[in-house]
Amino acid sequence: MNDFGTANVNVIDHPLVAHKITLLRSVETPSAEFRSLCQEITLLIAYEALRDLPTNTRKVTTPVAETEALELSGSAPAVVGILRAGLVMVDAILTLLPHARVGHLGMYRDPKTHQPVAYYDKLPSQIDSREVILVDPMLATGGSAVAALDHLAQAGANNVRLLSIIGCPEGVAAVQAAHPNASITLAALDERLNENAYIVPGLGDAGDRIYGTL
Ligand code: PRP
Ligand code: URA
Repeated sequence: MNDFGTANVNVIDHPLVAHKITLLRSVETPSAEFRSLCQEITLLIAYEALRDLPTNTRKVTTPVAETEALELSGSAPAVVGILRAGLVMVDAILTLLPHARVGHLGMYRDPKTHQPVAYYDKLPSQIDSREVILVDPMLATGGSAVAALDHLAQAGANNVRLLSIIGCPEGVAAVQAAHPNASITLAALDERLNENAYIVPGLGDAGDRIYGTL
């Protein structure tokens, strides 16, 4: 359990994650390093977020003996990235789950209303039978994550985990209100949103920092 009164939010408490988040926050960190840090943090938090992936046993023959060993079971998972910034996290998840199918949801925040504007979607088939890993580095107002979760629910997804690098209480509350069954894994939970709906202290605009479009 945590401050949100639910077991569905996991803020990863680990010195490696904390160290890398500090580097990520710094305004002096250039795009190339920023991208690498996003990928490294995603690998670390995914390790926890995917802890309960379903498994089954199968026989395997080692050079020494035959044994029963675990393997991931069921359909290939789907990793779904919210464009643009989610793409770096997709690449990291694919290093862990190379057989995953990839979905893309294009959306950007309207600069005045801060509401998400959807411009693209392409999801893997049979999403209802897959474990879905939704990735976006920032959970700010939660508008983008909720819109993505709505879209996934309409497409039939039942088992969705949201992985974000930095979140804030407003974004967590919005996701919990709209999709109480979606689990949320964060590398850091920051204080609040500012008047422009940016996370404080945060790291600024994730997409701009990843792609050097500041
Ligand atoms: C950022 C981020 C999330 C969204 C979070 O994307 O990657 O998708 O903002 O904010 P929210 O929780 O208030 O919806 P942005 O809209 O800047 O688009 P970009 O990735 O194309 O830069
Ligand atoms: N999107 C970002 O990239 N950063 C924020 O702080 C909020 C939304």
